[in-house]
Amino acid sequence: MHHTKMAPQCGVEVSGVSLADCNDSELLEIKQTIYEHGVAVFRDQDFSPEDHIKFGRRWGGIDVNNYFPLQEDFNEIAVVKKEADQSTNIGGAWHTDHSYDQIPAMGSVLVARDLPPKGGDTMWAHMGAAYDALSDDLKAEIEGLEAYHTADHVYEEGGLYAQTDMGEHLRGQNLKTGAVHPVVIRHPQTGRKLLYVNSGFTINFVGQTREESLPLLTKLLDAALTDDNQCRLQWAPGTVAIWDNRTSWHNAMNDYAGHRREMHRITLSGEALAA
Ligand code: OGA
Ligand code: MN
Repeated sequence: MHHTKMAPQCGVEVSGVSLADCNDSELLEIKQTIYEHGVAVFRDQDFSPEDHIKFGRRWGGIDVNNYFPLQEDFNEIAVVKKEADQSTNIGGAWHTDHSYDQIPAMGSVLVARDLPPKGGDTMWAHMGAAYDALSDDLKAEIEGLEAYHTADHVYEEGGLYAQTDMGEHLRGQNLKTGAVHPVVIRHPQTGRKLLYVNSGFTINFVGQTREESLPLLTKLLDAALTDDNQCRLQWAPGTVAIWDNRTSWHNAMNDYAGHRREMHRITLSGEALAA
C-alpha cells in the first residue's frame, strides 16, 4: 500500500489496495490511516453495492441514516444525490455525520456513482490539527466544556432542508435527536485530542443558551479551519472516500448547477465519545 498526503495535515490518497478484497492486515492499516489522517481516498475501485455493504459490516457495523433516501435494493446504502434541476445539495456546509447521536457514527464510506462533468468536490478539515492550532487561552476556555448537538433544525418539518428543494426527498422529518459530547474529545483509537463541535449540528454549550454560546462557538468554528488542515478531493469514476467523523469535518461543494451528482454512502458504527 502506498500513501500520498493530500494536504500537510489532512487526508491521504492510498494506492495499491482493492477495498472489495483487501486482507485483514490491509484493513487494519486502512483503519489506522483514516483514524490518523481523517480521510483516505482510493482510486479506480471496482466496488459494487454488495461490496460496499460487505465492507461496512466487516469494518464493524453499519448505522443506517434516518433522513436520506435509501437505495431501493440495498437498504443500508443512503443515496446522496442532487438532480440537474435541483439547487440545494446534501452536506453543503462544514459538518460531521451523525454528531447528533449519543453514540455517533465512526465514519462514512462514500462512493461516486454519477458525477457532474466538473465540480462537486468534497473538502475535509482535520480536527486534531485544528485543536493544536488554538491559542492557549482558547484551549483553557474550552477545557471541560460540553456541547449539545441536534439535527432537528436541519431535518424537521419546516427546518433548514424542508425550506429547500431537497425537502421533499427526505425521510424522518418527525424524528427528535439530541446528544451531549465534550467539546474536546480524545480519539477512541489514537488518543489524539480533537475539537468536536461543528457548524451543522452543534447548538450550544451545556449550561449556556444558544445566544450565550454563539461568540465562543463562532470563534472555535472560525479557528478550526487553517490552510494546512484542509484537503480537497476531485472525484472520478471509481473513487471511494472513507472518513473518520471524529478526526475530520467535511463539506460538499455545490458548484455544478444543471448537472446531476449521485453518491452512495454507508455510515460506519462508532462508540461513545469522551474527553
Ligand atoms: C455525506 C456528505 C459529501 C459529498 O454523504 O455525508 O456530506 O460530497 N457528502 O457528497
Ligand atoms: Mn456528511
